Formats: sequence, structure tokens, C-alpha cells
Amino acid sequence: MRQKLVVANWKMHGSLAENKQLLSDYLHQLPTLHTAQVVVCVPYPYLAQAQAMLQNSGIAWGAQNLSKDAVGPYTGEVSAAMLKDFGASYVIIGHSERATAYCESDENIATKFMQAQAHGLTPILCVGETLIEREAGVMQMVVAKQLDTIVKLHGASVFANAVVSYEPIWAIGTGLAASAEQAQSMHEFIRGKVAALDASAAASLKILYGGSVNPQNAVQLLAMQDIDGGLIGKCSLNAQEFEKICLAAA
Ligand code: PGA
Repeated sequence: MRQKLVVANWKMHGSLAENKQLLSDYLHQLPTLHTAQVVVCVPYPYLAQAQAMLQNSGIAWGAQNLSKDAVGPYTGEVSAAMLKDFGASYVIIGHSERATAYCESDENIATKFMQAQAHGLTPILCVGETLIEREAGVMQMVVAKQLDTIVKLHGASVFANAVVSYEPIWAIGTGLAASAEQAQSMHEFIRGKVAALDASAAASLKILYGGSVNPQNAVQLLAMQDIDGGLIGKCSLNAQEFEKICLAAA
């Protein structure tokens, strides 16, 4: 059985003082959870703080992006090896808030995915459709194309050590989550697509749902067969709400 995974995506929120409070609230509340793995993805400057506070706690940490290059003259970029230097074990890749604003192509995202794996980081690959694409009924095609770029370049076996997060763009930060049935149907499609190429990678692949998850809808969403956890934005900034979501996963 796949262990549930709950990932906090703080996005561009926090300060040294605020994070100290939030992480210590996490530490007080979350160690009682033995059945769900919890990861906190912080802005780059706070990786050292996350490492100092979370080491040996059972809560893992990671980043929200990384460079597609290993090293070199790339002003402003942060490499996979640098993330490893601060004990990160996960990295979010291809989040839609970046993909559009910073022109990330599927090819760039596929390269970042491999950079992460090559350095022993678990990539959390975000996929999902816009509202227009859902209304046009082409959401599976859109998600299939996002996965295909990786499969074409690197094969399907790379999904054995990866996480995919289904994040319908219309559900992110809108308060309008996908229904449990809508999410399950896409998760089943994603797992089936990987399974057609590599059954054992598909069986171990964790597929998270992200987009307006809150303590109320988490129970139904996380009970679905192919929903292995959540990627939590807004509610991860409130330790009580985040704990309730983690409890729903456990
Ligand atoms: P949200 O963000 O929970 O605030 O909708 C989710 C995400 O972007 O991963």
C-alpha cells in the first residue's frame, strides 16, 4: 500500500519569525501522525531554517523549484546540488503559477525532473488543465501531453521514484476544489497511463491532489483510491488547518 503524503507549499509566504512559529506549531502537532509522510516546501532562503528546525523530526522539507542546469553562469538560479546541501529531499516542479509566469516549457520541466532525480531529490511534478480546457472536455489530453514529454525523453520507469500532483489550474487558490470524483477520475487516468508503459512504476507512483484542499474537503478527497495525498497551499500556512488535513490523510 502507498503511504499517504501531504506536502505544504508555502509559496512566497513567510519570514524568519513567522516560519519559526509555524514550524514549531507543526512540530507540536504533527509528530503524532505515524501513517502519513509530511513534507514542507519552503522558499529558498528558508531552507537552512527548515533544516535546522525539522532535522530528525520525521517531517521532511524541500523547495518549490530548481534549475534545469547542474552548475554554471545562470544568474539567480538554484541547483539541485544546492538544495541537497540544505538537506532537501523533495522539490516541486512545473507548478502552474511558475509555468505561465516564467515561461516554463514542458521540455524545461522534464529537464528539471531529471536534475532532481539525478541528485537524489524526489520531484513533485505538477500537471493540470485550465478551466477552458476542462469545459472543452480536453483535460485528459492536456495532462497526457504534460506526462508524455517526460516519458518521451526519459521513459516511464522514472515515475517509480517520483510524485505527480494533479492540480487543476481553476482550483488553485480559488476556494473551488475539484470534487472527489473529478479528482479520482483524473488520478485513475494518470496511473493508467503510466501503468500501460510500466506497471510497477505506476503501482508505486504517488499521485497527489492540489487545489483548494481544506479540512472539510480533505476527508472525501483523500479517501479516494488513487489519491495518495495532497499538495496544500493556503491551508498549510495555518498549523491547525494543516494538521486537520494531515489527520484526514492518516
Ligand atoms: P491552494 O494551492 O491550496 O492555495 O489552492 C495549492 C497549490 O498551488 O499547490
